[in-house]
Amino acid sequence: MGKIRLGVNIDHVATVRNARGEKYPSPLRAALEAQKNGADSVTIHLREDRRHINDLDLKKIKTKLKIPLNLEIAATREMLKIALRNKPPFICIVPEKRKEITTEGGLNLKHNKIFLKSIITKLKKNKSRVSLFVEPNLKDINDSKNLKADCVEIHTGKICNLINVKKNYRKELNRIKKAVNLANQLGLEVHAGHGLTYESAKILSKIAGIKEFNIGHFLIGESIFIGLRKVIKNFQKILKS
Ligand code: PXP
Repeated sequence: MGKIRLGVNIDHVATVRNARGEKYPSPLRAALEAQKNGADSVTIHLREDRRHINDLDLKKIKTKLKIPLNLEIAATREMLKIALRNKPPFICIVPEKRKEITTEGGLNLKHNKIFLKSIITKLKKNKSRVSLFVEPNLKDINDSKNLKADCVEIHTGKICNLINVKKNYRKELNRIKKAVNLANQLGLEVHAGHGLTYESAKILSKIAGIKEFNIGHFLIGESIFIGLRKVIKNFQKILKS
């Protein structure tokens, strides 16, 4: 099995900062710490309501980071403009609802196919690698290929919830395996993300064909207790084993 890359999502460093309207903790500092401690990429989600990462964070991180920045954006004209201007090496297009606490599901690929296709084409021309955040179903994998995405990121929220509450997750695991296999057959690079902990990352890392894990909420939370460096090392060990 090739190396599985670890993308560290630092949105929740900004959540803590914004809770008090101060300048700290700094998302830029977190991004640079993640880089120093072995992260393969850093992920940030610039949400329409700027509830965590803001435009200035994006600018600073994009300027200073040496490892790839993975920018998550909704499929809107505003975000397209920002992404084209900032040229992050990686982009992941995600669904976004204003009232959700977090990204609740994969993209609805039936909706707005023409707009999505034009966004993907523009971003790829601008030299960004484009990934679509999708549910693990075969139709969405096929649609992602037809839309000419470079990669798919499988939404792992459902399986992670089942694992957390100690319910049977076999059926969801099989659904994910089938989606990964099809994506690999179609030449799409496969990533996984959402809700991952040590336990769920360990289970999902056994699926051959997933190249990148993007992990945020648990990783940042755990780093309060043992530090970012140690959490990154722990995840790297899991992804290697
Ligand atoms: N991948 C994508 C596409 C996301 O939108 C998110 C955040 O919702 C994550 C990964 C990271 O999820 P979490 O913070 O639950 O680890």
